Amino acid sequence: MRVNHVGEVCAQALYAGQALTAQAGAVLEALQKAAWEETEHLNWTERRIDELGGRKSLLNPFWYAGAWTIGAIAGRLGDPVSLGFVAETERQVEAHLERHLQQLPAADRRSRAIVDQMKTDETAHAATARQHGAAELPAIAKGAMKLAARAMTTTAYWI
Ligand SMILES: [Fe+2]
Ligand SMILES: [Fe+2]
Repeated sequence: MRVNHVGEVCAQALYAGQALTAQAGAVLEALQKAAWEETEHLNWTERRIDELGGRKSLLNPFWYAGAWTIGAIAGRLGDPVSLGFVAETERQVEAHLERHLQQLPAADRRSRAIVDQMKTDETAHAATARQHGAAELPAIAKGAMKLAARAMTTTAYWI
């Protein structure tokens, strides 16, 4: 759940960075709606960590700063690329949450409900990005994003 929480910290930062540089009004609106849902995700995961007696990542300020910078850069590359970045990020997050659902014990219904709802929302965020004209990112960019995500999730699992 700490890893999921870090993911949502990054989502806050990515959307904030992108909203700052979004060009079309409709794109900005779509980003803001998704960002609002990410705030809910952040709250759910934070509360669940508390309930389970866990702790949040010590590196959260670092994750936020990194993701904000990436979001702002993606935004500067123009709306189609920026939305393409959202679509690919959300697709990867959805896949991560699906793997997490497979690992979570059936008895942990609260965690499962949270992860399941987030997965539904992330799928919708990806679809929204595509509807607003997301460009398909080159394979090398997708691969780099996967590597960065793996580094993040592995680190956040421990620290
Ligand atoms: Fe989220
Ligand atoms: Fe999302």
